[in-house]
Amino acid sequence: MGEVNFKDTKILVTGCAGFIGSHLCERLCKEGALVIGIDRFSDYYSRDLKERNLEELREQENFQLIEADLLDLDLEKLVGDIDYIFHEAAQAGVRASWGAQFEVYVRDNILATQKLLEACKSASQLKKFVFASSSSVYGDTPELPMHENSILKPASPYGSSKLAAENLCYLYWKNFGVPTASLRYFTVYGPRQRPDMAFHRFIKAMLTGDKIEVYGDGKQTRDFTYVSDAVNATISAVNAPSGEVFNIGGGSQVALVEVIHLLEEIMGKKANVAFSSEQKGDVRHTFASTKKAKEILNFKPSFSLERGLKEEIRWMENIYGSTRLSSSRNIWNI
Ligand SMILES: NC(=O)c1ccc[n+]([C@@H]2O[C@H](COP(=O)([O-])OP(=O)(O)OC[C@H]3O[C@@H](n4cnc5c(N)ncnc54)[C@H](O)[C@@H]3O)[C@@H](O)[C@H]2O)c1
Repeated sequence: MGEVNFKDTKILVTGCAGFIGSHLCERLCKEGALVIGIDRFSDYYSRDLKERNLEELREQENFQLIEADLLDLDLEKLVGDIDYIFHEAAQAGVRASWGAQFEVYVRDNILATQKLLEACKSASQLKKFVFASSSSVYGDTPELPMHENSILKPASPYGSSKLAAENLCYLYWKNFGVPTASLRYFTVYGPRQRPDMAFHRFIKAMLTGDKIEVYGDGKQTRDFTYVSDAVNATISAVNAPSGEVFNIGGGSQVALVEVIHLLEEIMGKKANVAFSSEQKGDVRHTFASTKKAKEILNFKPSFSLERGLKEEIRWMENIYGSTRLSSSRNIWNI
């Protein structure tokens, strides 16, 4: 699949202040694109962290931030001259998606996506709309590795909302020619990882001497994807055939207890682990078949888990030592 020259293209990135969105914007700015980022700074986790994510971007002349909710914007006007859209905005997190909170998931993940797709019907310059979907659309499938055509039975309200959005992307391609492609990311990690995610919680606990809380027996496995590998895949998806879905996984299936052992080796200290009950919505295993992404997107994950963890630890040490952040009492809250 050929390289894309992003120089002077106009790109919209939703969720630009978040973990993956901020890395993606930086990369696109470096490639010479004019990047418009939208974020509503949802309170799922601290604004301080999101401001940090944006520090480098705010210095870029070719980056423009719109602080707004997608549901409040005149999107038709906004997407009128856009070449590419990367739709990263969402209310993330499996465990928080039950109960009354589901309303936020419906709003941010389903309604906002539908509104953006609706606006794209008249976006004459739009060449690709890349949607950030999730491995959580599979649920607890017995079939491993998970293939793009495996049965989809999300195990959480979050997964259901991502599947609904993914289906909407397909429908807007089929019916109105909006050139969508969806990427099912498998547990992304690295610098700026969200504070509710396992590695972030584990590393923070090891740095502060707190207990690492592991939900269940710790033998559940995940396919972990380093953030720059996820960003490479996302960028290459502008060349994907529309209407298609791709798994994006780092390529190894590792149990959480093994990750903790690896952290102990890298950080040279023992972890203080406390096992607690399994969380509703968590699946037992995830493991991606990335054959399709390799063949069509030329996806080649390049970070080993050890190398990627070292990068995340370095970032965590850096922010944890910062007076600005450590003075913010709720910085680690989600
Ligand atoms: N991080 C992962 O491991 C992972 C795995 C699978 C899928 N994903 C998907 O990738 C995307 C990015 O995830 P992340 O981990 O960077 O999450 P994140 O929470 O760090 O970033 C998402 C951003 O979207 C913004 N947002 C939410 N609703 C919005 C709205 N209505 N209008 C404007 N902005 C809005 C939030 O304020 C937030 O900053 C999400 O769509 C998520 O579902 C992430």
